[in-house]
Amino acid sequence: SEPGQFCNSGFGYGDFACEVSSSSAKLLIKGGTVVNAHHMEIADVYVEDGIIVAVSPNIKVGDDVTVLDASGKFVMPGGIDPHTHLAMEFMGTETIDDFFSGQAAALAGGTTMHIDFVIPVNGSLTAGLEAYEKKSGKSCMDYGFHMAITKWDEIVSQEMEIMVKEKGINSFKFFLAYKGSLMINDELLLQGLKKCKSLGALAMVHAENGDAVYEGQKRMKELGITGPEGHSLSRPPVLEGEATARAIRLAAFVNTPLYVVHVMSIDAMEEISKARKSGLKVIGEPVVSGLVLNESWLWDPDFITAAKYVMSPPIRAAGHDRALQAALSMGILQLVGTDHCAFNSTQKALGIDDFQKIPNGVNGIEERMHVLWDTMVESGQISVTDYVRLTSAECARIFNIYPRKGAIRAGSDADIIILNPNSSFEISAKSHHSKSDTNVYEGWRGKGKVEVTISGGRVVWQNDELKVVPGSGKYIEMPPFSYLFNGIEKADAKYLSSLKAPVKRLRTIT
Ligand code: URP
Ligand code: ZN
Ligand code: ZN
Ligand code: ZN
Repeated sequence: SEPGQFCNSGFGYGDFACEVSSSSAKLLIKGGTVVNAHHMEIADVYVEDGIIVAVSPNIKVGDDVTVLDASGKFVMPGGIDPHTHLAMEFMGTETIDDFFSGQAAALAGGTTMHIDFVIPVNGSLTAGLEAYEKKSGKSCMDYGFHMAITKWDEIVSQEMEIMVKEKGINSFKFFLAYKGSLMINDELLLQGLKKCKSLGALAMVHAENGDAVYEGQKRMKELGITGPEGHSLSRPPVLEGEATARAIRLAAFVNTPLYVVHVMSIDAMEEISKARKSGLKVIGEPVVSGLVLNESWLWDPDFITAAKYVMSPPIRAAGHDRALQAALSMGILQLVGTDHCAFNSTQKALGIDDFQKIPNGVNGIEERMHVLWDTMVESGQISVTDYVRLTSAECARIFNIYPRKGAIRAGSDADIIILNPNSSFEISAKSHHSKSDTNVYEGWRGKGKVEVTISGGRVVWQNDELKVVPGSGKYIEMPPFSYLFNGIEKADAKYLSSLKAPVKRLRTIT
């Protein structure tokens, strides 16, 4: 295939064709089972100029329209990955997938939008956003931003307001771990929660007790444990449970919704379950690695094999994975991310003598849709409509971009996948589109294959070939005050009125 005009601007890598998409601006997807979070039906989907124009049976079109046959297949909203780290500077290196290779991988796996975390520069949100605007400048799919808060002062507080009111960011992540770098204390978390509440922005937490993790690391050093297994041993589930419980209680005290990222353990999940049962607005996001892998890999005698499974919070002992799957199917957890944060073998080898120096993170942006279909739908744990809710629709609702995203519906963006339930997939670093030389799902075979991905009305993945267009991806602004904020004011008013009658005391001394 001829390289297209957009392909010579520094994107010289990758084993896939990079060319200008030749597909027409008008598309008809014929005869598939159209799946939304609430409903599925056999229908045609007609797309014009990147927007879904009609969804109904037997749509008739002229011969200037590209027709895709989807009979016997599922036509679903493209996946939205709520949690990625593309081109992130972290632990002395930078994640191997930038916005181009990471997004190409995403599209090949049926994900058409991701939300990445802007990391402030020396605490400055403005400088952080500028850096990420550069990194994402040539995006080939739609994306949005969360932003981390790593210090607190009046400037940061004002910048948060600018991010929400002018820059399309409606969520902020607070790291309760990574002592000495990204970690913040409870005092800052409280200030952040209050500010988030006033702006209608969603507070997100990385929930591990960073001070205790530091103690755990010292303990490993004293025991002479320097290998990747030390990573898991130094930060056990109890530290994730503690931080999850603490963040939930502080959010409850402030009365603002909370989103717990990468829920990896039963301990954290149980805290979320308890909170939701008591009426608190808490969202739990498991990630694919935590749902389907277990920590046994960390004891692998080959360092690189073990090191590729190092992420935080750690992948847990067998049993946590199945419990998280059950929680997802029961509605205790609401959506699935990846925490795609890929490092290659050379980068992982930074920690060859000390597990604390192994860059934390695993891949997943390309694998999420397939692994989740295989694990949850093929096994009978969830329905196809649930699959759409967990991979796309609920994420769009939480970040307040539904139904522009997350739905197959007239007026929605034409981010669509065609999944063949009778076809199979196999995962390997040899064939994946990430720049990493390893894959934590190496050798995984399963049923259900994304055969076509449509991004912004363009066919970008078909016949196992990518045709991505750098620069075609749009930054999606996400407005504040999602549905999670409904009722917050009423609850506050009720609380205040309960305080109204001051206690009358007589000043008598006996
Ligand atoms: O190990 C991880 N999760 N790396 C990415 C940073 C984070 O904490 O999400
Ligand atoms: Zn419907
Ligand atoms: Zn995190
Ligand atoms: Zn992350």
